[in-house]
Amino acid sequence: MARLSSVPPLGIKSGKGGWVFDEHGNRYFDAISSWWVNLLGHSNERINAAIKHQLDNLPHVMLAGCTHEPVVKLAARLSERTARNLGHVFFASDGSSAVEIALKQSFHYWRQCGEVDRTEFVCLSGSYHGETLGALSVTDVPLFRDAYGPLLLAGLTVQAPDSRLGNEEQALAEMSELLSTRSGQISAVIVEPRIQGGAGMVMHSVNYLKKVRALTRQHNVHLIADEIAVGCGRTGSFFAWDQVDRENWPDMLLLSKGITGGNLPLSLVMTTDKIFEAFLDNDFKKGFLHSHSYTGNPLACAAANAVLDHFDEGLEQQIRIQADSIRESFAHFDSEPRIGNLRQCGMVLAFDVAGVIENFAEKFHLAAREHELLIRPIGQTVYVMPPFVIDKDLSQHIGSAVTKTLHEVLSNAL
Ligand SMILES: Cc1ncc(COP(=O)(O)O)c(C=O)c1O
Repeated sequence: MARLSSVPPLGIKSGKGGWVFDEHGNRYFDAISSWWVNLLGHSNERINAAIKHQLDNLPHVMLAGCTHEPVVKLAARLSERTARNLGHVFFASDGSSAVEIALKQSFHYWRQCGEVDRTEFVCLSGSYHGETLGALSVTDVPLFRDAYGPLLLAGLTVQAPDSRLGNEEQALAEMSELLSTRSGQISAVIVEPRIQGGAGMVMHSVNYLKKVRALTRQHNVHLIADEIAVGCGRTGSFFAWDQVDRENWPDMLLLSKGITGGNLPLSLVMTTDKIFEAFLDNDFKKGFLHSHSYTGNPLACAAANAVLDHFDEGLEQQIRIQADSIRESFAHFDSEPRIGNLRQCGMVLAFDVAGVIENFAEKFHLAAREHELLIRPIGQTVYVMPPFVIDKDLSQHIGSAVTKTLHEVLSNAL
């Protein structure tokens, strides 16, 4: 906070496509989609039109005793995308709330089944699931956690798989050991499928997720797929889970961020008939209660339906072409000195910079602005996660701006 006076924030006035423009008329390519939310470019015409249309009809109504077309349509379309395996959708406004809902729903489900000892949640090392108290309890980032340690739920952390370390078998063995010894106390395992974003774009294979699904089934523990960052096409398919097993879904799947194209806050928890039905009771206390003022806001749902229109028209194919184009613009990074672990999953590409450079992330961020790029490394991991508006020129702009910035930061650090 004290650094705000020496590093003032950019005053952003407008955005169009992949670009944002500051109050002095400078432009910056939003290479990290404004914290992974912007999906289809700023001021996307179709999404804007959907929001404006909804604004003139019904900006908001409570989702208690009332319902409305955009929310029903959105729930049906999402559920259809899982072939109705996850046929129920609970709405909230932000990612952390979706995590809270999933943890509560899992715990409450077991309670309803008479399994009152299941109070523990398992997360992976380095995981990031948000910063409200429940979500922070399954977030393994000391910077965010440490100040609040005494307030958090007791959680269990197991080794995360990391494609850089080749440790998937070991990570699976740890998970298996934990589930076989404590399954009676564990409510759910929560994972970020394919990419642990907050950990610094740590990637793992589809195979790891298949095996975790098998283990959680074997030990009768819920599996929560937090696709808040990686859903909506970021990994190359609408759900990251589409790549894992379309017959065998997690018990809950969470979306937020990109679901409205990054225009309005919305989050949701998708779940199975089995979990839904456990809460069907005339006794109010046995229902699932998470009252939330802006649940299923119609404007946000209208935006989300416009995003799904893009997917219905074949956006996934375009994403794959765009991902290849990004990869090509970083091809020369294989031979860059001090660069390691160049990795990519769909529209997320990352690499690590070797050798400790003080304040690397801030230096990189500031230097990149001079090359018309908005980017924020995590530690010494530089990554791009752009909106799905990439063509050859834009991917070249990103590749060349990152290269120039990197050379500057490294030569100033000598
Ligand atoms: C995987 C994941 N889960 C949860 C969250 C929390 O979402 P929000 O910031 O909307 O609370 C984030 C945010 O970055 C995230 O990446």
